[in-house]
Amino acid sequence: MMMTGSCDQASVPILSLRNICKRFSGTQVLNDVSFDIFAGETIGLLGDNGAGKSTLIKILAGVHRPDSGEMDVDGQPVDFATYAIGRARNYGIETVFQENSLGEQQPLWRNIFVGRELPNRFGLLKIGEQKKVTMQILRKYVGLQGKAINADSRVSTLSGGERQGVTIGRAMYFNARLVILDEPTTALSLGEVGRVLNFIRQLNCQGSACIFISHNVGQIYQIADRFIILDRGQVMGEYRKNEIAADQLSNHLLQLHNQV
Ligand SMILES: Nc1ncnc2c1ncn2[C@@H]1O[C@H](COP(=O)(O)OP(=O)(O)O)[C@@H](O)[C@H]1O
Ligand SMILES: [Mg+2]
Repeated sequence: MMMTGSCDQASVPILSLRNICKRFSGTQVLNDVSFDIFAGETIGLLGDNGAGKSTLIKILAGVHRPDSGEMDVDGQPVDFATYAIGRARNYGIETVFQENSLGEQQPLWRNIFVGRELPNRFGLLKIGEQKKVTMQILRKYVGLQGKAINADSRVSTLSGGERQGVTIGRAMYFNARLVILDEPTTALSLGEVGRVLNFIRQLNCQGSACIFISHNVGQIYQIADRFIILDRGQVMGEYRKNEIAADQLSNHLLQLHNQV
């Protein structure tokens, strides 16, 4: 049984990676990356710019295909030949990408349901219902009471924090089992950061797992149960919170940075 924060956790990994390798035009970006993710835990993924963090999570999310390596979901092997974003979502893997992944000129309700037009375990919802659910998500996760924002609003009218709220709210609503957040707090105000960290705690308590990428070691240390350090495509360290102090974690990263 893995030990984590305050929430319960199963002993079979939700997701298991083994020896994931990826090259971009001859450059080895990921080299033999292996780790497990368990229900109810948050993994802090750390590493310098260019370490391969975003590439790794894009493989989990079905955006990129690895050159070699294996991935299991609930102990079942995933066939990378047919793995894609839609399939990842059907497995309950939701990703908030580093680059804004919302359609700027599209209304919010379309953004909430994008990629779910195909029947899945939620079935097909009519447009009216999609808008209703969008309003629920806005009220519950984005806190837009009193603002002139509704299901038909364009994404371009939302602040950075509100956009993150929409993507995270989408993940919460669809009951994601693994939520991946790639530097979600970089452009946020202090209050908005608090909101994101609270979402993650809620996710963990409902048994979902989270991978949280940030350059802010303080934030990562607050929220994560385990830390995985990626350096030039390789896992250079894996710690549980009780094995490393926040300043040791910072120093470790600084040393890797200075090695270059
Ligand atoms: N689509 C791509 N095509 C070519 N090279 C890429 C692509 N995506 C990322 N890279 C390269 O892979 C390396 C790792 O990038 P990335 O995964 O974004 O790192 P991180 O998120 O840790 O900053 C970088 O050298 C980057 O330039
Ligand atoms: Mg990145």
